Amino acid sequence: MEWDQKYKLGIIWQDFQHEQLFKHIDNLTKAKETGMEKAKFYKTISFIERYTQEHFDLEAKYMEQHRYPKILEHQKEHAKFIEDFRQFKSSCIYEDDKSSKELLLQLSKWVVKHIMKIDKDLAEFLQNRQ
Ligand SMILES: [Fe+2]
Ligand SMILES: [Fe+2]
Repeated sequence: MEWDQKYKLGIIWQDFQHEQLFKHIDNLTKAKETGMEKAKFYKTISFIERYTQEHFDLEAKYMEQHRYPKILEHQKEHAKFIEDFRQFKSSCIYEDDKSSKELLLQLSKWVVKHIMKIDKDLAEFLQNRQ
């Protein structure tokens, strides 16, 4: 999962956070493939949990501030990610390797799809407001 310029939406804070998210999910994917020290692995998981929550909160703040009409739909998607990530975390704890690999792949796909569709729509909306 590599960051690419094509994922940039034109909102500086949003692009920066998306890039960070990409990096950390990529670290996790590589860790799953090659193995990583357990403590470090769980540290990365906790970091992503915190980071996505902060990122979603910030997007929510902008959506509220600018009265974005699709806020509910957008937040529903965020909630789905949080739930799926929780599932991924427990599959790691229970050492269910097959599920955790599949879930991580799904989460990566979710991030790309979410950025290119749902976040893109929000970014365009915010840009038109400025
Ligand atoms: Fe986002
Ligand atoms: Fe979003």
